[in-house]
Amino acid sequence: GVSLKEAFKGDFLIGTAVNARQLDPENEAESQLIKEHFNTATPENLMKAHVLQPRWGHFNFEQADRFIAFASSNQLKVNGHTLIWHSQLPGFMRHMEDADSIRQYVVEHIRTVAGRYDGKVDSWDVVNEALDEDGTLRNSIFLRALGEDYIVEAFRLAQQAAPNTKLYYNDYNIEQPRKRAGAIALIKKIQAAGVRIDGVGIQGHWHVGSVPMEYIEQSIREFAALGVDVMFTELDLSVLPNPWNGNSAELSQTERYSKHLNPYPDGLPDSIEQAQARAYETLFRLFLKYRDQVGRVTFWGVHDGQSWLNNWPIRGRTNYPLLFDRRMMPKSAFHQIIATK
Ligand code: XIL
Repeated sequence: GVSLKEAFKGDFLIGTAVNARQLDPENEAESQLIKEHFNTATPENLMKAHVLQPRWGHFNFEQADRFIAFASSNQLKVNGHTLIWHSQLPGFMRHMEDADSIRQYVVEHIRTVAGRYDGKVDSWDVVNEALDEDGTLRNSIFLRALGEDYIVEAFRLAQQAAPNTKLYYNDYNIEQPRKRAGAIALIKKIQAAGVRIDGVGIQGHWHVGSVPMEYIEQSIREFAALGVDVMFTELDLSVLPNPWNGNSAELSQTERYSKHLNPYPDGLPDSIEQAQARAYETLFRLFLKYRDQVGRVTFWGVHDGQSWLNNWPIRGRTNYPLLFDRRMMPKSAFHQIIATK
């Protein structure tokens, strides 16, 4: 069969998120797809802080090391994900209030984790999702305790601990103008401090029917003009309504959930599958136009059955956002992406 990574060889890397279950021998079919189609992997959850440092000062590298071994025996590059993020933090961080302890956590976590994996991962998402939609810094535990220089400091620590690892800023919606302006200011600030930042990751959790193509193109150009790599790091195209859209903020939680629950519980209608395939095709034509700027395109999962969007943001949803279906067969989107070459 045709392989994604072969099709885009010389254009950009093709990646997927990988979770612990896929490394188990009984999920051979999934790991087979990973080996066949991808040349880079991002751990979906298993290098996040709550997994690596479950208790303060006690690290558990078991799953991460298994993942790294899987990657290296299958010629997959690795993008570490993620060092500093407000979400999926260890439980002990939830009750931490004093700035000194939080600073100590940041220093120790970055030194220990980035140091251990220097030379074993190719890159880190050093900071994830630090911006709000208006481009200002998100009101996180890190901002409150450490002030607005904490991101520069995180990159400085990562640079010291991992001199051989590429360092990235990663976020969603940074193709949108206001948030993009915030990301550009942030990158410039890191650069002006003399600290290394090698790239920016646009997550790419979009919806069929509203992929912001013009903003994406502007973003590639503007980020690339800063001298950093541009990557699409968590690509998936949901076929379900976006509950954050329109006036849904005015709906009660229950109304919102029932309104957007589950239109296709029994399978993806052909017309929607075709619309999704065209949306993916349009995106890949853009990525190819900017093949000199775009370094990597990573999908947030391998097949529809294991996508995080089946239960997020509404539990019980069945979604179909990826290139392979639940039986691990290539969908129209897969064929249409291949046909761009
Ligand atoms: C998601 C995972 O896919 C889920 O399995 C987990 O329950 C929550 O996190 N932005 C990110 C990713 O940077 O780490 C998130 O991954 C999806 C949104």
